[in-house]
Amino acid sequence: MKFCRSEQEQYEKIPVEIFADSSGATRQLAAEIAALIKERNGAGRPAVLGLATGSTPVPLYRELIRLHREEGLSFQQVVTFNLDEYYPVGDDHRESYHRFMAEQLFNHVDIPASNIHIPDGNVPRDSVFETCRNYETAIEAAGGIDLQVLGIGMTGHIGFNEPGSGRDSRTRLITLDRITRRDAARDFLGLENVPRYAITMGVGTILQARRIVLMAWGQGKAAIVARAVEGPASDAVSASFLQHHARAAFYIDQPAAAALTRIKHPWLVGAETWEPPEIRNAVCWLAGRLEKPVLKLLDEEYNENGMASLLAEQGPAYTLNIRIFNELQHTITGWPGGKPGADDTHRPERALPFPKRVLVFSPEPSDDAAGLGGTLDRLVSQGHDVQVVYQTSGNLAVPDSQAATFARFLLESARARSTGWEEQVRYGESLLKDLEEKGPFGVDSRRLRDLKGLIRRGEARESARILGLDPERLIFLDLPFYEAGRYRRFSLTGADTAAIGMVLDRCQPHQIYATGKLADPSSVPAQCFNALAEALRQRENHSWRQTCTGWLYSAHDRQLEPHQIGMAVPLSPDQLSRKLQAIGKHPSQQTQFAQTGEPDQQTARRYDRLGLAEYEAIEAFERWF
Ligand code: F6R
Repeated sequence: MKFCRSEQEQYEKIPVEIFADSSGATRQLAAEIAALIKERNGAGRPAVLGLATGSTPVPLYRELIRLHREEGLSFQQVVTFNLDEYYPVGDDHRESYHRFMAEQLFNHVDIPASNIHIPDGNVPRDSVFETCRNYETAIEAAGGIDLQVLGIGMTGHIGFNEPGSGRDSRTRLITLDRITRRDAARDFLGLENVPRYAITMGVGTILQARRIVLMAWGQGKAAIVARAVEGPASDAVSASFLQHHARAAFYIDQPAAAALTRIKHPWLVGAETWEPPEIRNAVCWLAGRLEKPVLKLLDEEYNENGMASLLAEQGPAYTLNIRIFNELQHTITGWPGGKPGADDTHRPERALPFPKRVLVFSPEPSDDAAGLGGTLDRLVSQGHDVQVVYQTSGNLAVPDSQAATFARFLLESARARSTGWEEQVRYGESLLKDLEEKGPFGVDSRRLRDLKGLIRRGEARESARILGLDPERLIFLDLPFYEAGRYRRFSLTGADTAAIGMVLDRCQPHQIYATGKLADPSSVPAQCFNALAEALRQRENHSWRQTCTGWLYSAHDRQLEPHQIGMAVPLSPDQLSRKLQAIGKHPSQQTQFAQTGEPDQQTARRYDRLGLAEYEAIEAFERWF
């Protein structure tokens, strides 16, 4: 079915509501769910909800719990069907969706246990087919699903309907996609622990719900959201089949909307107001599309590609091209802290004061090296006073095998001493005992988390040395939200903001680097960013704040588009290889992230193709303030 509400949305085949942030979206959806429950209950019937797990619905469940506690919303007459469950996993597995739902919603509302349905990930293989069939029958017996809540995976899956899942597929056992397993690796504390299979409702099962709302947050989801909404409906992206549903909608935040045509290329859908960032965006897009450098774009090429109004307003092409070329050119600097003694009219960063006090905020140790290792190298060698602030300890991301290696080493060296090391021996033994007792999926003891944190501190120090940074200049905040939490279940408190605030007050920085602004709101970088943003907001009137500049980097997420770049710091082949060496000093993270220079090299290639100088690699920054 072709859906179109306005000229701007002409490419969108599913209604999309874009919200400033996830809380606006979840408030609206929670209100719709509350109204549905009341309406159905008023008619003497239960409301039947289809529920999802993962990071995306967490804020929705928090809001439903709030409605239950503060506004008396009752779940007594609510029946739920969850989309999926890993297979094989027991209900009490730390990462099972049974456990997730209990912790995130069911334990906090008055829903009777008998009303809850989640596929059983624990049945023997030869009963799976029957279990799936029974699940379908139970949905039918409940009268079908009134409202289905969905998230979307990086493969475009809804439920666990991975690419290849048919439009009419039903509840069944599926093999998880490689990308889906990689995305779950952190939760399962290592890829090797992620189950290979899952039981999921089929696309056909989902489409039978009377109303469907898919939510998505963060820039990581932008590309797949655009494919699902604007691309062809096909089994390559199972969410695209929602185009066939009369009452499906996407509720997404602004970062997740970034790749929709109306946001990314608004001039193609009738937007006629040309603001400076949009002009740069349009010119870079045209150059990319025609595979031409900016300075060679012609009048007729602007006209033929929906930019006649731009040309009329700001043309001819020759003038426009030069202007944009210069803007891009002026983003390039080998002096990220400003170049002393040089005219800084067209430089991204001011020359004075020199040297600058620079604070680099890194959500976990290793984000700094991956995101701005080359820039750090330059800042230090150019004489700035640089401190790196590791906001969290990153201890959740250390595999047990690494902790075991350290514990064994400690034990062995302590035992090698004849006397006086008994306490160390006991400590080593207790670490190994903790590891054994908790098993691969158990919760780490405080002792283990501390050890894992120390491992990451050690790695951060080695990495800093490679970049010329004195390890004494590293600040480890171990923010409490992280120490008290688990992936997808973090919540910030004033203590987090206060800890960051103290560092700001002590340093009074001239320049700040941060990341996480557009990340999935439940992720560690997003929480860290929010805590920093709040601490800065509280200091809006401090005198140092008036001249401080803020730059955003991307650590492991999507690279910036050329038109978003405010500062482009070129890396020589040597600097790139030092950066990779610095990243390589984080062995505990080796299975988590690709450790290549590819993202920075790609940015350099894009600049080159636009007709700018050809560099080995470029680290890109967006101006924050
Ligand atoms: C969860 C589910 C999945 C997730 C999707 C997004 O029950 O079926 O489709 O909705 O993988 O996961 P998050 O929200 O963690 O990004």
